[in-house]
Order: sequence, then C-alpha cells, then structure tokens
Amino acid sequence: MSLNDRVRYSALHARIMSAEQAAALIPAGANVGMSGFTGAGYPKALPQAIAAHAQAEHAAGRPYKINVWTGASTAAECDGALAQAHAMGQRLPFNTDPVARKAINAGEIDFIDMHLSHVAQHAWFGFLGHMDVAVVEVLGVTADGLLIPSTAVGNNKTWLEIADKVILEVNTKPSAKMEGMHDIYYGTAIPPRRVPINMTHADDRIGQPYLQVDLNKVIAVVETHKGDRDNVFAAPDANSNTIAASIIDFLSQEMKMGRLPKEMLPIQSGVGNVANAVLAGLLTGPFDNLLGFTEVLQDGMLDLLRSGKMSRASATAISLSNRAYQDFEDNIDFYRDRIILRPQEISNHPELVRRLGVIAMNSMIEADIYGNINSTHVMGSSMMNGIGGSGDFARNGYLSFFVTPSVAKGGSISCIVPMCSHVDHTEHDTQIIVTEQGLADLRGLSPKQRAKVIINQCAHPDYRPMLHDYLDRAMKQSAGLHTPHILTEALSWHQRYLDSGSMKTA
Ligand code: COA
Repeated sequence: MSLNDRVRYSALHARIMSAEQAAALIPAGANVGMSGFTGAGYPKALPQAIAAHAQAEHAAGRPYKINVWTGASTAAECDGALAQAHAMGQRLPFNTDPVARKAINAGEIDFIDMHLSHVAQHAWFGFLGHMDVAVVEVLGVTADGLLIPSTAVGNNKTWLEIADKVILEVNTKPSAKMEGMHDIYYGTAIPPRRVPINMTHADDRIGQPYLQVDLNKVIAVVETHKGDRDNVFAAPDANSNTIAASIIDFLSQEMKMGRLPKEMLPIQSGVGNVANAVLAGLLTGPFDNLLGFTEVLQDGMLDLLRSGKMSRASATAISLSNRAYQDFEDNIDFYRDRIILRPQEISNHPELVRRLGVIAMNSMIEADIYGNINSTHVMGSSMMNGIGGSGDFARNGYLSFFVTPSVAKGGSISCIVPMCSHVDHTEHDTQIIVTEQGLADLRGLSPKQRAKVIINQCAHPDYRPMLHDYLDRAMKQSAGLHTPHILTEALSWHQRYLDSGSMKTA
C-alpha cells in the first residue's frame, strides 16, 4: 500500500517530505517527544536523519543535541543512532539500547528514570518543561484526519496534544488491518477535575480507535517501510523454567486456599526470559480464560491468546520476535478481537491495576534480605534499563512477584545481598520473591522473619551461610532493633565484587 493510500487526508500530501528535510526542521536544544515502547512503534527514518544532521552540525563546529522523551525503549535505529551521533542531551523514561546505556553511564546523556505511568501526567503538569516537537509513528491517516496508531501507543496521545509541532512518520510496512485494535482514552483531566476511569474489566474498551491531532501543527509527513526490532528471546533455560513452575504452583495453591478467585485475575508480565518462561508455563498450566493487563505483549502472551488459554490481553505495545509478528499479521482478524492497545497512562494506571487486582510479575537485579528490590542499578551506580512499569504494577498489584536467578555472572554475584546497592521497590511493595532455589512468601512477615525466609528459600547455597552469618551478627549487635544491619558491612559484598571480581570471601 503506497503512502498516499495510507494518508487518506489529502491536505497532508503537500507536507510529505524526506526524513532529511524533516530532520532539518528540529532545532538544537529541542524537547522532542518520540513514539516507541519496548522496541515497538518507534520512528525509524527520522532519528537516523536527525543523527546524520547532528553529525554534519558537529563537523561544522555547531553543537547539536536534542532531548528525547518516549514511551519506553526504542531500538538501534532510534536511541542507538542518536547516541552514536552524540545527539541526545536528555533522555527519559526508559532505555535498553547498549550504545545509549554506555553514554548514560559515561555522563554524556542526562537520563531521567521514571515510572512509566507518571510520564504523561508529569508532562501535562509542566514538570518536564515544554515539548517543541512530537515525532510519532502511525500506520496511516483517515480521510477525517484521525491517526491510525502503530504497534505501540505509549505516550503518543500526550505528545500529540502538548507539542508545538508534529512530524508524522507513516510506516507502510505493518498491516493497515491493525486499525480498530487500539483504545485511546481521552478522559484524563488534570486534578482537581479528574474523574474515575470507568474500567472494571481488563478487556473493557473505554476510548476510541484513533489518535487525534490538530492537523495545523503537522509540519512534515515522512514515510518509512520497516518492521520493529526483532524482540527475540532464547528458549527458557532451566532456571527460568524452575522459577515459572514455582509461580504457577504457588498460584494454584492460593486458589485452593481461597485467596485467589477461581476465575483468576489479570496478569502483568515484565519482559525477559523468566517472564517468557512463566507465560510458557501458563500454556500447560491449570488456568483458563486468562486475561492480560500488562504493558508489553510479548511472544509468550501471543501464544496464550492463540491457544485459547488467554481470552484477551490489554497492553500498550506489541513487542514480538519476527516469527511471532508474522503469526500476528497472518491472523490479524483473530488477534484484533483479542488485543487492546492503550496509552501507557492507562495500561499502567495504578487506579486500574489496583481495581482489577492484577498479578504482577517482574524481574530484578537484586533483593536484600529484608525484601527491598533493586531493578535498575548494577553495583549501585551503573544504570541498566530503568524502573519501567515495574513500580506501577508492583505497588498496586493484588499479588506482586519479583524474580531473578539466585546468582549472576557465573556465580560471582549473589542476587540476594545484605543490603541493596540501590532501591527501586521498598520492602512494602514486595510480596513474593522467587529464584530457582525457591519461593519466599513475605506476606504478613516482619523484617526479621522475612530475612530468614528469603535467605533459606531464595539464596544460592554458596551464599546462604554468609547471609545467615551477617544476619546473626547484625541481630546480636542491634540488640533487637526492628531491621538489624551492620552499616559498615552492609554494602561490603558489592565493594568486594568491584575489588576482586567476586562477592565470595575466599
Ligand atoms: N548484579 C549485577 N549484574 C546483574 C545482576 C546483579 N545482581 N543480576 C543480573 N545481572 C546482569 C546479568 O548478568 C546480565 O548481564 P549481561 O547483559 O552482561 O549478560 C544482565 O544483568 C541482565 O540480566 P538477566 O538475568 O539476563 O535478566 P533480564 O534480561 O531478565 O533483565 C532486569 C533483568 C532487571 C535488568 C530487567 O528485567 C529490567 O530492566 N527490569 C526493570 C524494568 C522492569 O521491571 N520492567 C517491567 C515492566 S515491563
């Protein structure tokens, strides 16, 4: 289908131009809101043209950087290209691109790590500054001038509303038959005029299928013809399968004990291998008519929908491997009835997560013996990806799981430590920790009780005696204090790793 067929609002045809021409319209220092969420729906042509423009400006001795706000992560053609060209000054709210990560940790990019549900409203409140330009990937424009969203909705609704100028990148590659899959809610007001969001089931549709934009703000329309990042996962390894089996067993037991409704509650699953293994486990598990209420729909959830185990899934992005994406396109009529793509302010909304009783499952970098969780920082200082949506779901979920293998880097790092080197989720938000060693159910336990359960159930046997030793001595020294610590030692495991390459003492 040609660009003119996709852009059915003919007044926009005069604004079609090359990515290079459009890039030249973005001035240095601009705050640019881009589409994109977890490697889906990000602009592909324009960021590369901006990167080339930045390089030409740098070569001419003129500094050129823009600030980039997105939904979540993008891909090499966007974050990677911009970081490579030293074209990003500020970046928010989440990144997984390795080149951009390096620039963030080198202090070249000011990275603002935010809860994904906060981004849109902080932008409306004016907390982030003024947005100059929005660059949004769409699948087309209707004859009435409405925008057909792409594989990710993210913050696009907000960017289109608040930006002074808009550049549309029309991707002619994804099937135009996605039209109708999206549910864009326009009812969110700024306090004190907010009203309840009228959603009581994960699969309720509460909005409209299209994004709106003031067409006078559209300064350029650019074509791209390229698929999203190939979000491919390795087959689940033994650890992931063991963690997945523990979670499914735990949920079955909860149901038997009457603490989880028989019809099951909607599922949120983070991205990554463990998350994919849990979804694979649900394929053969005892639960039927599952609902997804999550931010990213990955391969595992598509399999659940295809098998009929899951009846519907609500997300803000479909982030698939190329293989799964092909299945999605081949069976798009089937999936259109079963997938609802919403703005991330709705997919991750704390009000909805709590009302719907979502079961939250997220991966972490490390947990401490009291249940605090580090999702973002390696050895306290080095940014990995960001908190993403984990906080939106963990605090507000009916049940909240944090999962990790018990050790990293071939066993030289324990993922259960005396004290987290950085805290994203406090002990108050953590209900269940799972490693391949076992599952620690922390509900209703005091800090000292939690510490024993976490060490016994989740720590690797190589580190269990060291953790018990730390806890015993901390208890003695603190003489009964609420959360015993030896402050001079609490972070010594991380320092030892930095000094010697291992957290082990011998
Ligand atoms: N200390 C240091 N490094 C650690 C570590 C620890 N305790 N635990 C894991 N790592 C390293 C791994 O060795 C690996 O490094 P490598 O890339 O050099 O091989 C890397 O971290 C990723 O670990 P992995 O086990 O492959 O996990 P993952 O791909 O599932 O990612 C998170 C784990 C925590 C980084 C990831 O889930 C994340 O970014 N979470 C925050 C956002 C979030 O939860 N979003 C959920 C809503 S979608």
